Amino acid sequence: MDVYGYELLEEKMPKHVAIIMDGNGRWAKKRMMPRLYGHRAAMKTVHNTVKLASDLGIQVLTLYAFSTENWSRSKEEVDGLMSLVVEYIKREINELHANNVILKIIGDKNHLPLKVIKAVDSGMHQTEKNSGMILNIALNYGGREEILHAIKKMIRDGIKDDEITEDLMMQYLYTANQPDPDLMIRTSGEKRLSNFLLWQNAYSEFIFDDVLWPDFDAKTFCRLIAEYQNRDRRFGAVK
Ligand code: IPE
Ligand code: IPE
Ligand code: MG
Repeated sequence: MDVYGYELLEEKMPKHVAIIMDGNGRWAKKRMMPRLYGHRAAMKTVHNTVKLASDLGIQVLTLYAFSTENWSRSKEEVDGLMSLVVEYIKREINELHANNVILKIIGDKNHLPLKVIKAVDSGMHQTEKNSGMILNIALNYGGREEILHAIKKMIRDGIKDDEITEDLMMQYLYTANQPDPDLMIRTSGEKRLSNFLLWQNAYSEFIFDDVLWPDFDAKTFCRLIAEYQNRDRRFGAVK
């Protein structure tokens, strides 16, 4: 199919796309505006990206919204980001539901402000019986925290060492029952993982693009999916 000028093959559509939405602060700075202006602009990009991913038949979309390291930002920015998350869920949840999207939050939910916990719980509850795309929002997410959380839970469940397999480990991660990301995108030109999906990204195709997240549009997304579809995924084998 031709989407925004890119020939995308349905059979090669990534099942799971993960995105590190980076560059909001720099986008705002270029406009001599406060960082939160960039985070607010980012919400529109999230809206459009979710809609396009769902229309393209992507099964899982994971968006990195707040890392376990992001608490070290100013209180003003952290509070602003938390309020935007609540605003996003309240504003978008009915449309997500109408589009059959399942909302999930991945990360350590316990340490989020109560208003955020309430909004995400209600959003997850409303959409849990849907059967369309899974939208994972990574909130207070850290790959290392996720792995430690999984190990602690295995121990509490009395799992024996010889019962621990890769499949079992995957069941204990926040992304249980989901395929690993096929495509991992980071915007803004930074080339690092910043503690994102450390286990799950073992064999993802990585694309680092210079676009700042608020400027990421449908055409950019299609260009990156087309690039992904041209990659040769060998998984260690020789063809
Ligand atoms: C990404 O944009 C959003 C979050 C981390 C919440 P940044 O806020 O990191 O923007 P830059 O990297 O400073 O431009
Ligand atoms: C990663 O971006 C986290 C999110 C996008 C939510 P950061 O901007 O926080 O990461 P660093 O500081 O560049 O590694
Ligand atoms: Mg950043």
